[in-house]
Amino acid sequence: MFRDPFCRFSIFRRVQPLVQNTFHLLFAFILIIFLVTCYFSASNENNETIKQGRDADSSSPSEYLPSIGHYFTHTTEFNKNIHNAPLSLRENTLFAFNSSNCPYKEWNQIRTDSIPNANRHADWAIQIKKPSKYLYHTSFALLAAFAHRDQIIVTLTSENQFKFVFKTVYCRYYDCHRKEIFYHFESKVFPQSTVFCARRPGAEYISISEKLNETPEYSVPIVPRLNKPPHYFTVCMATLYGDEPKFLQIVDFIEYYKLQGATFFHIYLRNVSNYDRVLLDDYVRTGDIEIIKMHDHFWRDDFMWHNAQINDCHHRSKFFSKWTALIDIDERIEMRDEKYKTIVNYLDTIKNLQIVNLHFKVQWVIKQNNTPATYVNDKQIIDEMNFHKYQNISQVGALWDQPKCIIRPEKIAIMTIHVPKAVYSGEQFTPVSEKIGVVRHYRNVKERVFSNALQRMMSHAPFKIIPISKWIDENLTKQIINRVKWVYDVIDVTCEEKQKIYKKHGGISAPCWIEEKAMKD
Ligand SMILES: *[C@@H]1O[C@H](CO)[C@@H](O)[C@H](O)[C@H]1NC(C)=O
Ligand SMILES: *[C@@H]1O[C@H](CO)[C@@H](O)[C@H](O)[C@H]1NC(C)=O
Ligand SMILES: *[C@@H]1O[C@H](CO)[C@@H](O)[C@H](O)[C@H]1NC(C)=O
Ligand SMILES: *[C@@H]1O[C@H](CO)[C@@H](O)[C@H](O)[C@H]1NC(C)=O
Repeated sequence: MFRDPFCRFSIFRRVQPLVQNTFHLLFAFILIIFLVTCYFSASNENNETIKQGRDADSSSPSEYLPSIGHYFTHTTEFNKNIHNAPLSLRENTLFAFNSSNCPYKEWNQIRTDSIPNANRHADWAIQIKKPSKYLYHTSFALLAAFAHRDQIIVTLTSENQFKFVFKTVYCRYYDCHRKEIFYHFESKVFPQSTVFCARRPGAEYISISEKLNETPEYSVPIVPRLNKPPHYFTVCMATLYGDEPKFLQIVDFIEYYKLQGATFFHIYLRNVSNYDRVLLDDYVRTGDIEIIKMHDHFWRDDFMWHNAQINDCHHRSKFFSKWTALIDIDERIEMRDEKYKTIVNYLDTIKNLQIVNLHFKVQWVIKQNNTPATYVNDKQIIDEMNFHKYQNISQVGALWDQPKCIIRPEKIAIMTIHVPKAVYSGEQFTPVSEKIGVVRHYRNVKERVFSNALQRMMSHAPFKIIPISKWIDENLTKQIINRVKWVYDVIDVTCEEKQKIYKKHGGISAPCWIEEKAMKD
């Protein structure tokens, strides 16, 4: 008997010819549907090819993904329910560029032909009669560049290029592919370690050269500083170097100033141990700090980076933060007046626009030992915290005994370690009464670079015990412990657990496993 492939149509069985006719009709109908479907899907594909251009890859993988999906519907590995956006046939406009385009940037379309305060800079240059020559650089040694609305500030690590205070240097501009934009700008090196340049549309990198026909040294990226400053109070930490272990001092420094209201740190780095570096990198990860590596092509001893560091951080902080402190790893500015719990509480009260540099006097703390090189346990860390271990503090130093500054960076023209050499507006320095705040300076008695430092500190006797305030002690202890443990107290597992994981890598064995086995044999 005829076997109806569409066995549901049992009513057709009664009259055989009718059934056969109907079957043929049905077959023809299905064939038509099939052809129509084919036609439309084919013309769809053609349209797409035309839309994307003849040379576009017509076998774009996304077209075949749905059918791949079909083959995998029965496996758990490839889940057809994975959420995905529907295929868009048009390129996202953000990606509508090729290898020879530079992306258009709204902020980077400005051309200027002068720099602000050029005349004042020239006056100051004349007043600074004979600038001291320092080190032996034979090149500018660019460190960084920052674009402002009306200028680009280039910082250098050289400090001896003063001959160019009165001679021309050339700002050289490069696009996103470091192809030179041939509209140089003539400028000077002023102040020391700084060149102010005009703006150029599309300039992404910049260098400086003495002559126009020479190849300038490596260009550096131009970092925009065009918006409202993203921070209220930031801290510049002087260059880290030397053999004293640092991790505990670094975490103390950062967590202390965070409690004082600081929200970002520029950390200048010559070198620290690999162990200490893990902590620094973790703070980079969490967006608390930026590390600026101090290195160039020329000789200089580690402690000789200080001026270049101050200059760079001054310019780096302009329009980045309203207030910036320029301090060393062993210095803690602390409030001494109940009215101001934290540094930012105090800064909030400053309304006088003449105040552009708060000048803090110093009290020294005798520090007899180095901080530990590694984390052992919580008790060890708590005992070793400088503010727990060292509380024997001197009298307040005089106005010019190594004072430290909190500045309004954009109002300062020339910054040095203890005081601005020139300001664009306001008072050059505004002393802060020791009743309001001081710098607690932990001074290691082990003499390092400066042989008279110990003598100088001891001249500020008598010493007496003054601990830091209780609320800081409590919070700081907690914050330090949390961070140190997160970074260094890495959770271990048993050798058996390790071995299970090693086995998954082609059957290799854990070193501890091999060792244990060797011991047993
Ligand atoms: C890249 O895009 C530009 C238009 O923005 C065009 O003029 C140029 O020919 C393109 N280059 C290549 C290699 O496709
Ligand atoms: C820093 O580098 C110097 C040599 O350049 C080295 O002697 C010193 O041990 C290094 N310090 C640390 C903490 O690694
Ligand atoms: C503090 O330091 C001074 C000077 O070195 C010393 O005479 C004094 O005993 C110290 N005080 C304490 C409590 O250690
Ligand atoms: C410090 O800790 C106390 C509790 O010990 C808490 O009330 C206070 O808010 C903390 N202050 C800061 C600035 O974290």
